[in-house]
This record gives sequence, C-alpha cells and structure tokens, in this order.
Amino acid sequence: MDEQIKITEIFKKMGAGTRQAESMARQLIKRADQLVESRRCSRLAAMEYLLSLAVSGAEGIAPPGFEGTHADGQSMNVKVSKPNDTVDASRGANQLPDSMRNRVECLFVESFGRSPSVVCRAPGRVEFVGNHTDYNGGPVLGAAVDRGVWVAVAPRADGLRRFRSDQSEGVVDVEDPSIRREGGSSWVNYPLGVLAALKEFGLSAPEGFDYAVCADLPVGAGLSSSAAIELSSGLAFLGLTRQSVDRETLVKIGRHAENHFVGVPCGILDQGVSGFGRKNQLVYIDCSGPTFDTVPMPEGADFWIFNTHTKHALVDGLYLARHEECLAAARGLSVSQLALASEDLLETQNTVLGPVELKRARHIVGEVARVRGTISALAKNDLDEVGRLITASHRSSQTNFENSTAELDFLVDQLEGLPGVYGARLTGGGFGGAVMALTDDKFDASAAEVIKSAYFAEYGAPCVVVHLRTAEGAEVVLGPQSTLSCR
Ligand code: GLA
Repeated sequence: MDEQIKITEIFKKMGAGTRQAESMARQLIKRADQLVESRRCSRLAAMEYLLSLAVSGAEGIAPPGFEGTHADGQSMNVKVSKPNDTVDASRGANQLPDSMRNRVECLFVESFGRSPSVVCRAPGRVEFVGNHTDYNGGPVLGAAVDRGVWVAVAPRADGLRRFRSDQSEGVVDVEDPSIRREGGSSWVNYPLGVLAALKEFGLSAPEGFDYAVCADLPVGAGLSSSAAIELSSGLAFLGLTRQSVDRETLVKIGRHAENHFVGVPCGILDQGVSGFGRKNQLVYIDCSGPTFDTVPMPEGADFWIFNTHTKHALVDGLYLARHEECLAAARGLSVSQLALASEDLLETQNTVLGPVELKRARHIVGEVARVRGTISALAKNDLDEVGRLITASHRSSQTNFENSTAELDFLVDQLEGLPGVYGARLTGGGFGGAVMALTDDKFDASAAEVIKSAYFAEYGAPCVVVHLRTAEGAEVVLGPQSTLSCR
C-alpha cells in the first residue's frame, strides 16, 4: 500500500489529478507484477522500467544516462530519474524518437495480440506568436515540435471499434456503428470525432478496427496533444480505408472534430501547425483563408518549454468567453473579423467599445502587428527583435487579454533579460500551461535549472523543462504513403 501511495504521489507531482494518479499507480503496479511473471526480471527492475516509461510518456523525456537491460531483454537507454528533475538535453537535433514507434507497436501487440497495419504520427506544436488571432481571422506563427502522438491501427472484420491508450487503463470497446460521443471527457472522443468528421467531409470512416495510441508530449503544457491525436488518427483511418487527402483537408478534418464533436471552439492554429510543420521552419497561417506557408527558423535559435503544470479550473469556459468578447469587439467596430481592425480604427473608435472589449481588441490588433513584425525580423535574422516581440506578446496577454497567470508571469519575468534568452511568452490558449522561451543555442540545462530553482523557491512546486526542436508535420510511418496526396 505504501508503494501505491508513493507512486500516486509521483504522478500527482507530474501534474495528474488525484483520481488519475491513483489509477495510474494501480495500473503501473499491475503491469510490474505481469512483467515479473512474464520476463522473470526483478520487481525493482520492472518498477524502474515502468516508472521511466511513465515519466518519459508524461513529460516526453527519455531520462538520460543509463545503459541497462530492457525487461524484454533488449537494450534500454532509460533510467528512472526524479520526475521533477527532468531537463532533456539528450536528444540530437531534429531526431524523432524511434522508441515512440516501438512503444505504440508494442502497446498494440500487447493489447490486441497482433501487429498493426498502419502507424502514423503527428507532432505537437508551440505557438510562436499570434495569440488568439486564429479564430479572429488573423495571422499566426507556430512550430511543429519533435514530440507528438503516435497511432497504430489494424482492421477488424466484426465491425467492433477497440481503443487503447498508454495513458489510461484497459481497452475501450465501441460497438455502436453510429458514431456518438462517449460520456464525460473521455479521450476516445478525439478519434471518434475524427471518424464523424471524415463522414462530414464526404469520406468514408473505417468500420471495425483495433487502435492504440501513445504520446510523448508534456501533459497540460498547451502543446496541443489534441490536434496531434486528431491528425494522427485521421491519417490512420484514411490509411485503413486507402483514401487519400491533401494536407489542408486533413487539418480541417481535425479542427472539425475538435469544434463539433469534442466541443472546443478553437481556431486552425493547432491542427494547421501539426499538419504543415517542417524541420527548421515555422508555420505561418493566414487564418482569414486559411492559407499555410513556412518561414525559415534562423540558425542558432532554440525553444525551451517551462511547464507550470497549472491550469485554471475554468479554462474551457474562459477560452469561450474570450472568443465571445472578441466577436463582440468586432461587431462594435463593424468589422467582420477582429483581426481586420487597424490600429487607427481601434483608437478612433475606441469609445464604441466597453473597457473589456477594448482590451481584447488591443491584444488582437497588437498581435497581428507583432506577427508581421516577427516575420520581417526573421527575414533579417534579427533574433533580438523577434525576442522583443515575443515578450511583448506575453505582456499584452498579461494586461489586455488577461489570459496569463501569476506562475506564467513569474517565469517570463525570470527569463526576460537572462543571458541567451531572446524572449519568452505563454504558449497556446493561456490560463495556465507553459511558457516558451526562444534562446540561443548556448542556453543549456544548467541555465534552465536556474529558472526551475527560482520557480520552486517561489511556488514550492516543480516546473518541468523540455528542450524542443522543430519537426516535420503529420506523416504515415507504416502503411500506404499515398494517404497524403501532397503537401
Ligand atoms: C488554443 C486553441 C488555438 C488558439 C490558441 C490561442 O491553443 O486551440 O486554436 O486559439 O489557443 O492562440
């Protein structure tokens, strides 16, 4: 029992809620017992192995520095490290972890007793600059990152749809051939939403299949695991049915699932970046189209994520409230979308808006200008200016959009002016989550440690740091390569 309490505490420190942490601890202990039985390894080795997988799964980090033996007898390059002590500087530039493919294939075999026929991956994303501009018809810059979601599938003849995730216990069976939402906030609603969206787009949804999913994105950091599961599931389902779409359609299917099935009124940023990401590039989306493009990322610039593991209890409601306030501001200014308002219009018409709408409008109009300024600065390789604009974006979130938190502000305050840091801002919707810092390539784990220690001293809670690289967008890893007809 002592053991279960200790493991529960570890998962809680990693950001899981109490019930989730208890369930994860029970699952881990059960799996350890199975490993001892099936592999004849020591219980300690099984525990170490499973905890290391859990840490790497939740934080997307392979803890460095251990050469050991996998419980399967294969070589293993992971070690249990303190979950709160995870700075990942171990992965080489632009390498995707092969272990993720292994993990999802193993989970598939373990769950369904056979091999998958299609495996796909889609990356998470950082929002570089352009906060809440997407659903206001504005421009945004993001980057696909070298962590994401991997989905493995194989067809079944009996029409049953079976789902398994490495983040929760057991297989979820969906027998009903008509696609309906599962109760509560079940993760299965993401792939189910994609199945429903395929039909809405005039494509066919596969009938019976087995499905397994693994993720190495940090939990709750605002790196968009939802878009990544939507796009990897979409590609996997299309692969199963041998249909082919272009990238833009895949992206729109993902967003449709999120808006109409999961029920989050997000814009196109997350799915667009996950779909159109490229190594060493930022993705530029003009959300008035939308149109998608890429902008080279200057050499010598790096991303670091500082995940506070905090999340406002009302985050979904607050996102919706901001959405509505922006619509009200657009109506007040008589523009069809808020991003179309110019700074002049805003200042000459400011009396037609209430104080809240005025602040929201200032944020969006300012963000539009900051995205354009960032693109010009990137073209000149002026990273100092890029950094200044990024931090200015955060300050506007703090004062105008009011989607920051004390924890996020604290991190930005600490990072601002630190040697090697060009700029820092909250990334994603806000109201908790993570801060992204744009740094030079000399910034390292020990520099990140300074921030972590300051955060711990202030809040008595860990902040988990992840070093991210840019990565390619969604892709088929195993199966018909023609699923994506073109970029
Ligand atoms: C979330 C949404 C995106 C976007 C950002 C804020 O990530 O999913 O569509 O609105 O917030 O820029």
